Amino acid sequence: MTAPEITLNDGRRAPMISLGTVGLRGQAGKLAILEAIRNGYRAIDSSTNYNNEGIVGLAVKESGLARTEFFITSKLPGSHHNYDRVFEILQEQLARMGLDYFDEYLIHWPNPDEGLYVEAWRALVDAQKLGLIRSIGVSNFEPDHLDAIIEATGVTPAVNQIESQPYFNNETVHQYNQKLGIVTEAWSPTGRTNNDVKSNPVLAEIGEKYDKSIAQIVLRWLIQRGVVPVIKSGNPNHQRDNLDVFDFELSDDDMEKIFALDKGEEGRLEDQNPNTYHEYV
Ligand SMILES: NC(=O)c1ccc[n+]([C@@H]2O[C@H](COP(=O)([O-])OP(=O)(O)OC[C@H]3O[C@@H](n4cnc5c(N)ncnc54)[C@H](OP(=O)(O)O)[C@@H]3O)[C@@H](O)[C@H]2O)c1
Repeated sequence: MTAPEITLNDGRRAPMISLGTVGLRGQAGKLAILEAIRNGYRAIDSSTNYNNEGIVGLAVKESGLARTEFFITSKLPGSHHNYDRVFEILQEQLARMGLDYFDEYLIHWPNPDEGLYVEAWRALVDAQKLGLIRSIGVSNFEPDHLDAIIEATGVTPAVNQIESQPYFNNETVHQYNQKLGIVTEAWSPTGRTNNDVKSNPVLAEIGEKYDKSIAQIVLRWLIQRGVVPVIKSGNPNHQRDNLDVFDFELSDDDMEKIFALDKGEEGRLEDQNPNTYHEYV
């Protein structure tokens, strides 16, 4: 089973579910990604600081599928918000992956105190023109950051990958993305491993009603909001379950119950508010 696709504002199409890869490293990571590809994943989300661009590229190659079947994402490290350095790292990342182009490439964090994300965005716009990237986007950008790059270049990102999970749904930024025609991708959609989303009683009760797991309920809630989940799993059963979310629909009432779990700023997984949090790797 593969995921249905969504059309981005640049006309390209992307799967409605992407495989997160944090923690999938080395030979075991490569085998887990190959398993995910066999289970139907075509979108794979990587980053330099996941230390796995090489094995993601190997899995793509060893899958035997055509390169055009895939939607491969990587991200610009915060240490490279400089026009020339964007091209250096981008070419290095492509070489690590053994690819000629990324389907999607995102500025990982805006790092607003450094104030160089507009320069980085200009480089992504040019890298797209040169064919190194098909769809250009950002991650963890707040409305002000989006306004700044669009005003400077006239180019709107195709996607904004942000934290969105039941305890911090980030609906304000998602709605701003939607207003600008930007697709929202959700990172840590099930709350990673360090909180209790996956044992929440409200989500468990909704799951019983639809005969689905908590993870499936959360993924469906994101999809019905028009958000693309980026969900990591190295477990083949979870991988299959996480794609099996297109045969049911949550009622408005159940959608609202999940929205009501939001805890505001306190609900962020690791207190990573993009206005104050900076990441350079
Ligand atoms: N742009 C950014 O700044 C940013 C930040 C963080 C993450 N990300 C991306 O987003 C991806 C997802 O985030 P994440 O990995 O932090 O969190 P996540 O995908 O919400 O959670 C992953 C955890 O959930 C488990 N899991 C997955 N499916 C499950 C299921 N059906 N039932 C039970 N457990 C399940 C996984 O274990 P198993 O492997 O055992 O299934 C793993 O422990 C990352 O891998 C990365 O690609 C991006």
